[in-house]
Amino acid sequence: MQEQVHTVSNSTTSRRHFIDLLLGASILGWLASIAYPVIRYLKPLPQTGATGPTRLTREETAKLEQDQFIIVPVSGQRVIVLQSQDQKLLAFSAKCTHEGCTVTYLPGQSVIWCPCHDGRYDLSGRVLSGPPPKPLPEYAVRRQPDGGIVISEERA
Ligand code: FES
Repeated sequence: MQEQVHTVSNSTTSRRHFIDLLLGASILGWLASIAYPVIRYLKPLPQTGATGPTRLTREETAKLEQDQFIIVPVSGQRVIVLQSQDQKLLAFSAKCTHEGCTVTYLPGQSVIWCPCHDGRYDLSGRVLSGPPPKPLPEYAVRRQPDGGIVISEERA
């Protein structure tokens, strides 16, 4: 009888331990699912070392058409390529001129937006509101005859 109680107690303890482990793993997974996108968003794109024009891959072009914008490295710099409401392709430095956060495009408002301090730029790169001190530098972007999209050096 005493042995049965001991076995039941061991079984309860190991089940509780298993549930604790499962709960801990779930919490870690949940935290990682929140932290990863935030870190990925804030971390600059890796320096590719490649210089010169960048041609979007087929996947990048599909993402541009789906989301109306994409951020790609061009000569080691983050560049936001966007498609305006009238289907015009535009490209700017994706580095906010305030403190360097990565900007994003709000297609519904036709605004380039910096989430760090609510800086806003128009589709010419000019500051609309917020703390950015200067416009976003513009890049040249061209659609090739074969449909490819090429982004090249900063415009003076
Ligand atoms: S870093 Fe963009 S508004 Fe401050």
